[in-house]
Amino acid sequence: MKSSNKEVEEIEIGLLLEGIYRQYGYDFRDYAPASLKRRILKAMADEKLNTVSALQDRVLHDPACMKRFLLTVSIDVTSMFRDPGFYLAIRKKVIPLLRNQPFIRIWDAGCSSGEQAYSLAILLEEEGLYGKIKVYATDLNDELLERGKAGIYPLKKMKEYTENYKKAGGSMPFSNYYTARYENARFKSSLKKNIVWAPHNLVTDASFNEFHLILCRNVMIYFNRSLQNRVHKLLYESLAISGVLGLGSKESLNLTPYDDYYEELDGREKLYRKIK
Ligand SMILES: C[S@@+](CC[C@H](N)C(=O)[O-])C[C@H]1O[C@@H](n2cnc3c(N)ncnc32)[C@H](O)[C@@H]1O
Repeated sequence: MKSSNKEVEEIEIGLLLEGIYRQYGYDFRDYAPASLKRRILKAMADEKLNTVSALQDRVLHDPACMKRFLLTVSIDVTSMFRDPGFYLAIRKKVIPLLRNQPFIRIWDAGCSSGEQAYSLAILLEEEGLYGKIKVYATDLNDELLERGKAGIYPLKKMKEYTENYKKAGGSMPFSNYYTARYENARFKSSLKKNIVWAPHNLVTDASFNEFHLILCRNVMIYFNRSLQNRVHKLLYESLAISGVLGLGSKESLNLTPYDDYYEELDGREKLYRKIK
């Protein structure tokens, strides 16, 4: 029986993902198929290859190609104070819950290049809590973590970030937090002091601590339903009782098996508090 081109492509994608998992340990098999396929087609175009099988051949034999593939497929879009209303809600509704803790552990899961971790650091510094926090900023992609660790971002982004910061309740001159040099803004090293950067794969790695706040924003939209549920289990198990989970604007706990284990702290901003 002859398969259509589309069916052949699906077979090839399955083989590519299986090969990557077995060779490199990255497991994309339960990512949402439509967006994953778009990224694979983009990787093929970038590599100037005509078939998924050709991409598989190159990815499996050339670790540099795998690195490029990882950047294409893991979608690193992010920004500082992304969705400012979310950070305003953290200031108003989460900070009062954290204030009495002697020590605060925060997990920024799927942190990309770190802009979210610095946003948190700035907010916590302004709220007088920076001295007693540790932010664990994790991502599956080492290259993005290196960018986070460096804390250097394009200067041309600072206008947008300053506006976001103000909408998120910030009242300082935003330029207090970085020094500008040529085309770049380098964030103050005092903000980096309590941020730990570490690789962690939400699909294959276990929990590594108990946290008072977990942000996992705009990561699970790329997963299929069963993988989303597995990751929700991991996040639930990693939160202290009364701890807070923050999701992305298009994400929610509705329809997950964990809905009943949280109360809504701010439904609009996707902030949930673990109650049992
Ligand atoms: C769209 S970015 C979101 C970044 C940030 N959380 C935000 O909301 O701005 C998605 C990030 O999730 C990471 N990611 C994708 N799959 C992951 C996995 N299995 N484990 C950990 N991080 C993952 C990607 O590398 C990427 O940095």
